[in-house]
Amino acid sequence: MKFDLFTGSLAQSSAECLVVGVHEGGQLTAAAVSLDRKSGGALSRLIKRGDFSGRQGDMLWLTGVPKLKAARVLLVGQGASAVSRRHWRKQVIAAVQSVAKTRVKTLAMALTRPEGRDMDDYLHARSWVEAIEYGLYRVNHLKSKDPSPKLVLEKLSFGPVDRRHVAKARRGIAHGVASAQGSQLMRNLANLPGNVCTPSHLAEQALRLGQDYPALKVRILDEAEIRAENMGCFLSVTQGSAQPPKFIIMEYRSPKAARAPVVLVGKGITFDTGGISLKDPGAMDEMKFDMSGAAAVFGAIKVVTELNLSLNVTALIPTCENMPGSRATKPGDIVTSAAGLTVEILNTDAEGRLILCDALHYARRYKPQAVIDLATLTGACVIALGHHHTGIMANDDALAEELVSSGLRADDRAWQLPLTEEYGEQLRSNFADFANVAGRDGGAITAAAFLAKFTEGLRWAHMDIAGSTYVGGAQKGSTGRPIALLTDFLIRRARNR
Ligand code: BES
Ligand code: MN
Ligand code: ZN
Repeated sequence: MKFDLFTGSLAQSSAECLVVGVHEGGQLTAAAVSLDRKSGGALSRLIKRGDFSGRQGDMLWLTGVPKLKAARVLLVGQGASAVSRRHWRKQVIAAVQSVAKTRVKTLAMALTRPEGRDMDDYLHARSWVEAIEYGLYRVNHLKSKDPSPKLVLEKLSFGPVDRRHVAKARRGIAHGVASAQGSQLMRNLANLPGNVCTPSHLAEQALRLGQDYPALKVRILDEAEIRAENMGCFLSVTQGSAQPPKFIIMEYRSPKAARAPVVLVGKGITFDTGGISLKDPGAMDEMKFDMSGAAAVFGAIKVVTELNLSLNVTALIPTCENMPGSRATKPGDIVTSAAGLTVEILNTDAEGRLILCDALHYARRYKPQAVIDLATLTGACVIALGHHHTGIMANDDALAEELVSSGLRADDRAWQLPLTEEYGEQLRSNFADFANVAGRDGGAITAAAFLAKFTEGLRWAHMDIAGSTYVGGAQKGSTGRPIALLTDFLIRRARNR
């Protein structure tokens, strides 16, 4: 897709189709007024007739509007004159999806920009590209016949942009394109079924990325090398599976960056049956999404490499299946982590923290400026926050706040939960240093408290994306979250340090 911007009036556009906003009560936006004038009052006449009221969610296709070069106009209801980020995003997505069903090749859009503290021309352009690409995403389905007709749309432009801000807006477009590429890579990986997206498949994808980008060094540890690192917790999860585990390391190095990298750790459970503590069958298929943290790390690496950010970033992905079987870990088994701490595994379904704790320990050797892990870690986080916010827990409030604020700017929101010492005390074990579970209460936080035992002395934040990263039901699929948040975070880190 080619993205562009325009500086003049929408009425002058030579695009085949124009998308224009109308507010509640038939209030024309400035761009709509320009079309109305040019067409001799065509828009105000139809609004007077009561054909369109500009309610949030409404759209109306017009063809043959007099005196316009464009053969089609799509009116988009923008609701109240102050447009929220969420509504604006829905409007952009609905409009582009409607256009994508036509034979339109070139499109120009003028919608009232959303509210938001930092909503300047840069962020507006970036958000616009992200929303458009989200709306145009097509799942890499495995249907024998492609159900969706080929996309005809080739070029989109938005505006009008003030001439003085064109450079900023162009930078926003470039960053939006990279963010969208990261999101697409993430969604393509996360949507794959467990029999295709195995740990070996993820390792191959990492090697492929390494070939595409010279600044990226990729190394894969196999089972013997994982054993040599004494990752007893990680190995206890994979031992019931016939699929070999992999530990993926991707190092992006920029000559212009401060040495200490940001380390991103992604949970890569390619399928989570629960192991011997087997899950209920209802919706168990969704546990193919249990490698979404890993997919998000792939996406973030894509963004960083595409933008050539002056920031060092290291990706660590422990990846395996969690299966029952005669060799599987049993409740009560005690294993030793790479850090040397012993863990009593009371529930084999609390496996994410077991693979992550060994990866977090591995992160120490990089002397990182920050460590962020991403994981579909707990159902309890979904109970706490629903699907709207990613959960953040950290041993460093400044880092947590940085992530929350990136989530606000990117409209990919996150919420910090408390991580005080009481939660860690709940993990007591009679036999080992601690247990891997602590009962139902505060489950998202006790999971983080488990990880916190391995991150002392590191600047660390944990992102529980169990609720935000995929949707079930009729729209089942990966949402690509939190790539937009991470993109904002990484760009800002690259600029500030
Ligand atoms: N992958 C799940 C968490 C999950 C649940 C993600 C629902 C998305 C939707 C994780 O491995 C898990 O099973 N966690 C357990 C922990 C419990 C045994 C302490 C859970 O949340 O039930
Ligand atoms: Mn589990
Ligand atoms: Zn899991």
